[in-house]
Amino acid sequence: MRKIFSPLLILFGIMFAACSTNTENLTVEPDNGGENNPPIIEQVSYASNVQPIFNASCTNCHGGSGGVNLTSFSALMSSVGNNYGDNVVVAGNADASGLVDKIEPNPQHGSRMPTNGSLSNTEIQTIRTWINEGALNN
Ligand code: HEC
Repeated sequence: MRKIFSPLLILFGIMFAACSTNTENLTVEPDNGGENNPPIIEQVSYASNVQPIFNASCTNCHGGSGGVNLTSFSALMSSVGNNYGDNVVVAGNADASGLVDKIEPNPQHGSRMPTNGSLSNTEIQTIRTWINEGALNN
């Protein structure tokens, strides 16, 4: 009997070890404002929370005609980028928005914005939440 049991016990031991390793490797999803991850700010206002970030970090370069203009809600929403086209902001979907891609590490095109530093995690989260809440003119 012992000769049959030992290999079985070893096999179960390996299976158990594999399972517990998998559990340890589970990564925590970033806070995207999903149902189980309430956003930091519940209702983000474009005028009070988002535009001030653009004014402080973006409009010195993105304030002219053509390309991405971040000086107002209407200018932003009608912006057409060279690489992201009219997907600079995709209302309701921060992950599909070129603007979010550009302010996070390793964007798909070009360099991370702003070129002379980076936004804080709270600022990035504020912009993400505003877009996920529908990119309203609020
Ligand atoms: C110092 C000037 C400068 C600042 C400040 C700056 N940008 Fe840019 N931005 C550029 C340049 C130059 C490009 C084009 C090259 C590139 O994509 O890397 C660009 C490209 C972009 C694009 C891509 C447009 C496209 O589709 O090609 C987005 C979106 C963008 N910037 C957003 C921002 C945001 C948001 C901020 C503020 C957090 C910001 N930028 C700050 C100079 C700047």
